[in-house]
Amino acid sequence: MTTNTSFPATESNAATGIRAYRAALLDFVDDPFYTDEAECVRFFADGLLVIENGRVKAIGSYESLRDRYANVAIVAYPDKLIMPGLIDTHVHYPQTEMIAAWGEQLLQWLNRYTFPTEQKFKDKTYAQSVAAFFLDELLRNGTTTALVFATVHPASVDAFFEAADRRNLCMIAGKVMMDRHAPADLLDTPASSYTESKALIEKWHKKGRLRYAVTPRFAGTSTPAQLAIAGQLLQEYPDVYLHTHLSEDVDEVAWIKALFPDCTGYLETYDQAGLVGERSIFAHGIHLTDDEFKRLSEAKSAIAFCPTSNLFLGSGLFKLERAKSTATPIKVGLGTDVGAGTSFSLLQTANEAYKVAQLQRQRLTAFQALYLATLGGATALNLQDQIGNFGIGKAADFIVVDLRATPLMAFRNAGPMPTAIAALADAVFSLIMLGDDRAIHATYILGELAYGQ
Ligand code: GUN
Ligand code: ZN
Repeated sequence: MTTNTSFPATESNAATGIRAYRAALLDFVDDPFYTDEAECVRFFADGLLVIENGRVKAIGSYESLRDRYANVAIVAYPDKLIMPGLIDTHVHYPQTEMIAAWGEQLLQWLNRYTFPTEQKFKDKTYAQSVAAFFLDELLRNGTTTALVFATVHPASVDAFFEAADRRNLCMIAGKVMMDRHAPADLLDTPASSYTESKALIEKWHKKGRLRYAVTPRFAGTSTPAQLAIAGQLLQEYPDVYLHTHLSEDVDEVAWIKALFPDCTGYLETYDQAGLVGERSIFAHGIHLTDDEFKRLSEAKSAIAFCPTSNLFLGSGLFKLERAKSTATPIKVGLGTDVGAGTSFSLLQTANEAYKVAQLQRQRLTAFQALYLATLGGATALNLQDQIGNFGIGKAADFIVVDLRATPLMAFRNAGPMPTAIAALADAVFSLIMLGDDRAIHATYILGELAYGQ
């Protein structure tokens, strides 16, 4: 037998286009709501993330990989933490400019602020300028993938996807379908929403990293005929998504009951149209009944938990523990829901998620919260084989996090980078409570720097 310990195999940067990043590395390999946290968290206090052609090639401790990649140029981020890019499972890009609109709850807020704002998006040039600002804002906040509402105007979808494509982003979006209970120039019809959505699917779905979501706004603004059309689109294109709102606000739930007297509840309005499936993502789900939780679990649908929005609009407290029960588990991701949500930062969204749990005498751990913002979000979007952690071959969308980004954070985290999991849990909890866009030192898309402080 021969051994060759003195000449380890090495890979050269020049020959292979490989790059490596040295920092503390943190990602999740399983769901900490169901499995012991120690088995879910992967952490290297001094790690090396190796990227080839925009994909993860290797991950491990620096010590274990240094010889193999001795000839590869290493970018070092001392005292920083590298994590997978954050995933926003529900956000409205056209509402960027109306974030923080005072004084209303859902239905009045829609009429007073949202609909007038969305009317501006019939102008494609305007939509382009907002899409560009929105995507830059996502990257500044470390968000690398999002499930996004456009408006009823097809041009708003074109503007968004063109901007996302230029930035090589993995994004899901769709044209809003809405044929009642909104200003006339925001309405389509079942027929026009079918034709326009179909054309947009043909144009954008699976173009590079882009994916399409059939997007009826909610049962309040779609007739049963239009919801049925949405179901028809899902039948014709089984790998597109379904994205809508569900059971957000008490007045809304009562209104939907009145609009659909033959349905047993809110979810049924979608279920009878064939909209409740594995690729369906429902925003909010605050006031779901037990049967509705069970149905979502059985259908393998996902919920976007949007705590800053739910608190801002006074919608209520999402029952995360119920959604993540072992008996009827539901896929859950975090959503900022800007512009009802009050921050683009998924760190701040996780912060509010923690408080929503506290108000119900429940405890959300720091690792559970970061799981929701990464692998949990990817799983909610059925993208877990492409993004969400540093699995070999996955897209190298990642963020460089500064645990000492502000004077207060530096004071709170004065010691060295933790090496033990318990100390890490404490450090990343403080990141969630105190951090925001200032803590995102850099954002990489497919291994390329897309934002850096
Ligand atoms: N329900 C229907 N439309 C909307 C919207 O734009 N935002 C929120 N938060 N809920 C909705
Ligand atoms: Zn929303």
